Amino acid sequence: MSEWDAFIKQAMAEIRQAVDQDRAVVALSGGVDSSTTAVLGHRALGDQLSIIFIDTGFMRQDEAKNVVESFASLGMQGQVVQAQDRFFAALARLTDPEEKRRAFRDTFYTVLGEVVASRTQRRPLLDEGSRGRQAGAVWLLQGTIAADVVETKEGVKTQHNVLEQIGINPEEQFGLRVLEPLRTLYKHQVRALAKELGLPPSIAQRMPFPGPGLSVRVRGEVTRERVETLRQATAIVEEVLAPFHPFQAFAVLLSDRATGVRHGERAFGQVIAARAVASRDAMTAEPLRVPWGVLLDLQERITTEIPQVTKVVYDLSTKPPSTIEWE
Ligand code: XMP
Repeated sequence: MSEWDAFIKQAMAEIRQAVDQDRAVVALSGGVDSSTTAVLGHRALGDQLSIIFIDTGFMRQDEAKNVVESFASLGMQGQVVQAQDRFFAALARLTDPEEKRRAFRDTFYTVLGEVVASRTQRRPLLDEGSRGRQAGAVWLLQGTIAADVVETKEGVKTQHNVLEQIGINPEEQFGLRVLEPLRTLYKHQVRALAKELGLPPSIAQRMPFPGPGLSVRVRGEVTRERVETLRQATAIVEEVLAPFHPFQAFAVLLSDRATGVRHGERAFGQVIAARAVASRDAMTAEPLRVPWGVLLDLQERITTEIPQVTKVVYDLSTKPPSTIEWE
């Protein structure tokens, strides 16, 4: 018997007991936390669980396509909800990181609530009145993990989905009751569980990616053009640094510009910060040790493939005192 059998059995029993005859949804991001939650939920609930992928417009290259394909190969059907316009409108002109997170979160749960409501109308829910339960509740299975709980409690960032801690009542505001089957686990444990549940290494070992995605890696204003620049840089950083097995590796588009030279002329271009860290659980981190030549290749690829970028820096900060992200 594996060390995870008891955990899986208990988590499934708790999910079944809570959801009972109701319905449940999981909002899949493609990350290891929500994917593991989705598989646990699917095992516990089968077709009672709807898997929803909200395309916010702040995902990485080909992310929606890859996530849906991975889940289809596991026999789980996900529904993609195109909501890019909603998110870009909600974040327009915001520059403060916490305001961005709040706008992202409100839009996310509003869209999710709407999707759930529209599905409920199409598929009438069972009448549970006779058993004294409120009929037709919808449960939201969230991939909250232990680090999320700790960091939100400490007030480092309101980054995470620990809704009651950030003053959101999901039932009142969005008609959703929350279940968090992973809230006692740290990242390395979630990865082990994901493997145990049969998720492929591309998901089980996937780097953490913030819920608000690229919107909190674009410093300053979040426009489609700026997100696209960052998306390209992110793909390059991930590809070049993958052989060094970072805990996380990503790009940040800074709000400042820097003078450069292109074809003998002054170019006042964009600045990309490449960030890669070694860490066990994201609570502390140190910059990834990368050979100098690799960093030079990285800057060459970014400034060649994304001509509007004239400067690339590599972030050397440890956590603490820095954090992993820039916002
Ligand atoms: P920091 O930057 O606080 O990040 O050192 C710790 C871990 O959390 C991730 N992170 C987020 N995750 N929503 C999330 O779901 C967020 O707003 C958010 N901000 C940071 C970060 O990538 C790292 O793994």
